[in-house]
Amino acid sequence: MKKIITVIGSYNHDMVLQTTRFPNPGETITAKKLEMFSGGKGANQAVAAARLGGDVYFITKVGNDAFGNNASQNFSVDNIRTDYILQDMEVSSGTAVILVNQEGQNCIVVNPGANNMLLPSDIEDCQKAIKEASYILMQLEIPYETVKYAIETAYHMNKKIVLNPAPTVPLDDNLYSKLFLITPNQTEAEMLTGIACVDQISVAKAADVLLQKGVKNVIITLGEKGAYFKNKEEEFLIPIREVDVKDTTGAGDIFNGALLVALAEEKNWKQAVAFANSASSIGVSRMGAQSSAPYRDEILV
Ligand code: RIB
Repeated sequence: MKKIITVIGSYNHDMVLQTTRFPNPGETITAKKLEMFSGGKGANQAVAAARLGGDVYFITKVGNDAFGNNASQNFSVDNIRTDYILQDMEVSSGTAVILVNQEGQNCIVVNPGANNMLLPSDIEDCQKAIKEASYILMQLEIPYETVKYAIETAYHMNKKIVLNPAPTVPLDDNLYSKLFLITPNQTEAEMLTGIACVDQISVAKAADVLLQKGVKNVIITLGEKGAYFKNKEEEFLIPIREVDVKDTTGAGDIFNGALLVALAEEKNWKQAVAFANSASSIGVSRMGAQSSAPYRDEILV
């Protein structure tokens, strides 16, 4: 029987504008193209994990609009367990406006909408999805109080909790020791530790700070340089395959979703990071976040 992965997090409707470059303050520029995608860090991670073969529950809250009304149906196409796709009839779904320049880099502004209404009481109502899971995967696009409540709940049920601290907020010191794994990118690692992650030595130092705070395992994602892993026993960096980058949006989400699938299949750390690198390198070679998440037969490792 597959180990269940429960993803708790955001759902957004992404409006993606392709531009040659980002505008300067006060400047108006013309986009080359506008596309709409299903997004949100939580949803992207859930879809990535499910497409790669994970058995996934997704706990989220959508709003009272076409995106929200179709969310359960859309997620079930990817075989996600949709029992806990909650809906708030008073607000609209989360929305993200994303600019992607011709180098594939992005700028994102999120209006949280219904994501802000995913409350600790909802987590209480979704306990079955936590109880049945082996791994819990969270990000920080829902209220911080809800994330804290979910971490406490899952910790008391002895679950392995993975936090992708995006977008980063300062974390309570007592949360770190409850985390099986934390997966910041370079910028987020710097915000959490105060150490600028500019080379492998500083990345290792940042990982040490997180380990000292009590996290069991640390992965710092380094964009086109790959991903760095450290725990008390081992340390390594796995470079990423070079690809023609179209859109980096959601690369970290695909990495996290894929990583959890590999861990749930009991791959070792090196195998799991290589699997996640492979998935995210495919993701950046396509447009969109969720839309670019690969299927299992596309993974090269
Ligand atoms: O990580 C990418 C995601 O960030 C986008 O899908 C957008 O919705 C924002 O949440």
